Amino acid sequence: MEKVMRNFFLFLSKNRFFTKLAKKYGLRFGAGKFVAGVSVPDAVRTIRILNDQGMAVTIDHLGEFIDSEAEAREAAEGCIAAIEAIAEYHLDSQLSLKLTSMGLDISESLVMENMRKILGAAEKNDVFVTIDMEDYERCGRTLKIFKQLREEYDHIGTVLQSYLYRTVEDIESLDEYSPNLRLVKGAYKESAKVAFPDKKDVDDNLKKIIRIHLMNGHYTAVATHDDEMIEYTKKLVEDEGISKDQFEFQMLYGIRVERQKELVEEGYKMRVYVPYGNDWYGYFMRRLAERPANVAFVLKGVFGR
Ligand code: FDA
Repeated sequence: MEKVMRNFFLFLSKNRFFTKLAKKYGLRFGAGKFVAGVSVPDAVRTIRILNDQGMAVTIDHLGEFIDSEAEAREAAEGCIAAIEAIAEYHLDSQLSLKLTSMGLDISESLVMENMRKILGAAEKNDVFVTIDMEDYERCGRTLKIFKQLREEYDHIGTVLQSYLYRTVEDIESLDEYSPNLRLVKGAYKESAKVAFPDKKDVDDNLKKIIRIHLMNGHYTAVATHDDEMIEYTKKLVEDEGISKDQFEFQMLYGIRVERQKELVEEGYKMRVYVPYGNDWYGYFMRRLAERPANVAFVLKGVFGR
């Protein structure tokens, strides 16, 4: 049953009609539990609260799978506005973005143009930018663009997903770029041709890539809500004498909030991924797919009042 629901929400997450509808009508159905609001001031308020609790942030100007050049340019402007707000309000925050929002499905030159504008603003304001990883179909192109941009800019990182068979090879091929990587399990619906169907294999592969990347000496963001992965990382860094400056934990806004605070109290660097903006639909559907309990929460929000 859980698998059916997961597939159903992942299927819905890519529906362009609902995406457009959601943009028009603002945050609904309890999405505010996972999305900080629709505007930059909403996001700034949330970041301030998290920073005051000792947490760093990566802010995500929501947007994905857009199909016009004008929307891609608008999304890039949105990212620049977020970067400027981080600098203006002296926030402890990085920026995360998706290449499909920059025009990946339109043309690579449009993405490069938008990314160079964003990375220029980020460099000027000393803000680090992470390129989120999307579905398998776009993984190769995302890594190619990341490598190209990494040759031009220092303050850029990306994400690898442990559910993909290709990931161990990818992490090795990225080694020469000394990349700052966020390591995750993966959030999209993928076929068994390209991704491990069993959770146990996905978990084992996450441990494997955490070890490879840390032992290669590169900065590692372990982005998970899974205690087993967190405990694995803590033990690994202790056994291998890896400094707390070489890694951080990351979690999503609104998920396992108490655990986030505990990690800060234990002295670990904790970064919260804070999405905001009116393109919240796909992000929200993927969070529902991850955990059926969230669906009950949404139904309560819709029908419970
Ligand atoms: P897992 O799904 O095994 O969950 C472990 C436990 O965590 C659960 O038992 C539950 O207690 C809790 N939990 C997990 N998800 C929850 C939820 N939605 N609500 C409530 N509790 C939940 N993916 C991707 O493909 N590309 C990307 O760029 C990113 N970026 C990213 C950034 C950050 C900061 C995080 C934390 C995650 C991502 N992800 C991502 C998502 C990631 O791939 C994955 O889908 C989720 O993190 C869920 O996997 P976990 O590792 O948390 O473990």
